[in-house]
Amino acid sequence: MDKILIEGGRRLVGEVQVSGAKNAVLPLMAASLLVDGWMTITNVPQLKDIDTFKILLRHLGCEIEADIPAGILKIRASEVKDAAAPYELVKTMRASVLVLGPLVARFKKARVSLPGGCAIGARPINLHLMGLKKMGASVTIEHGYVTVEAKKLKGAKIYFDTNTVTGTENLMLAAVCADGVTTLENAALEPEVVCLAETLNKMGARITGAGTDTITIEGVSEAELKPAFVRVIPDRIEAGTFMAAAAMTKGNVLIKDCPFRSLEALTVKLREAGTEVAEEEDGVRVTGDYPIRSVDVKTLPYPGFPTDMQAQIMAMMAVGNGLSVITETVFENRFMHVGELKRMGADITIDGRSAVVRGVRGLSGAPLMATDLRASASLILAGLVAQGVTEVSRIYHLDRGYQKIEDKLKALGAEIQRVKA
Ligand code: EPU
Repeated sequence: MDKILIEGGRRLVGEVQVSGAKNAVLPLMAASLLVDGWMTITNVPQLKDIDTFKILLRHLGCEIEADIPAGILKIRASEVKDAAAPYELVKTMRASVLVLGPLVARFKKARVSLPGGCAIGARPINLHLMGLKKMGASVTIEHGYVTVEAKKLKGAKIYFDTNTVTGTENLMLAAVCADGVTTLENAALEPEVVCLAETLNKMGARITGAGTDTITIEGVSEAELKPAFVRVIPDRIEAGTFMAAAAMTKGNVLIKDCPFRSLEALTVKLREAGTEVAEEEDGVRVTGDYPIRSVDVKTLPYPGFPTDMQAQIMAMMAVGNGLSVITETVFENRFMHVGELKRMGADITIDGRSAVVRGVRGLSGAPLMATDLRASASLILAGLVAQGVTEVSRIYHLDRGYQKIEDKLKALGAEIQRVKA
């Protein structure tokens, strides 16, 4: 299994290009199930999760053509051989559940292995199922699979008790061709939800309100839908990870294609910590300075501070000049990186949903184990400023969501390499 080796202490300087957003591509791939015709998605990053979704779509019966270096993905869902997402795929990628809505909408039946808990929390899909039931579907759970059936979904008024990104996306996908109007209340506001709604509208759907907490979907007939040609939005979390890397290494990095507007919560915190963040014509320039001022952070649904940046900001606060309280409100178990950061000399105590981080003067390189995608990124950031060599193993987590991060960091001056174990 591959490992990443980092020799810390290099300042990051230069320019880096942000790739397309993983969490925007996956729902667009699911949207291709709604039509018979070639959907074209561009700016698609080279990531393991996207490969897994391709396997899933092929398993369902879709044809796929990909020009991977060019970032172009074409999907055609003329027929479905088997409307089921098997355990082997769902267990490696929970976003597989996104096929539920479009499959039941177009093919009247869908079976998806129920995702269990994962490294960051229990992550149930009860709200996805609640919405489908409200739209008239029958839902049965047997042998670890959920089966959803409906001759024709009906528009409904759906209220989410908890803000859910893929839940909002799944029900939006389901409602596109439903009979009548569906409203999603307390819907997720994430840019990836907006990207999906805009794509669906390009395909002929009638969706308004995406990006607010009330989304209205007026059902259209299947005949009104056509495939679309779409460009995926840039990955705000990848961009944010590079912003933190530049800040921590006292670097000076121009982040190109940076979705600055969707990174306000992070920008505010970086500036409070003493980092300079400036929008330029072709990107966002981040200039780090020491000492890093310790700041408190609380994760929240968008536009709050993203949970997907919590581990990275914690790595930064680990070398801050004081005390930082980092509170995770989105997932109940997203502190797996703490133990690894402590092995590098970080001073962190977990108290319920908060981590109290006392900044230390320096971290020291150590052999580490990545536990989930964003935890992996935080260990790499910590390795960039640690004294000596950091060795991060289990980096298959990293490959799920960061396109060639080691190449991008190396181009900025980091001493980093991938080695075959
Ligand atoms: N929740 C429920 N019931 C549901 C659905 C969600 O209780 O039916 C709870 C979850 O357990 C969690 C909270 O609601 O406590 C928010 O979960 P959400 O459904 O929003 O998460 P998700 O849709 O499964 C997406 C991203 C995650 C990101 C979260 C939060 C995708 C494919 N995944 O997950 O991305 O952390 O939203 O922003 O869009 C990542 O990229 O590393 C990643 C984990």
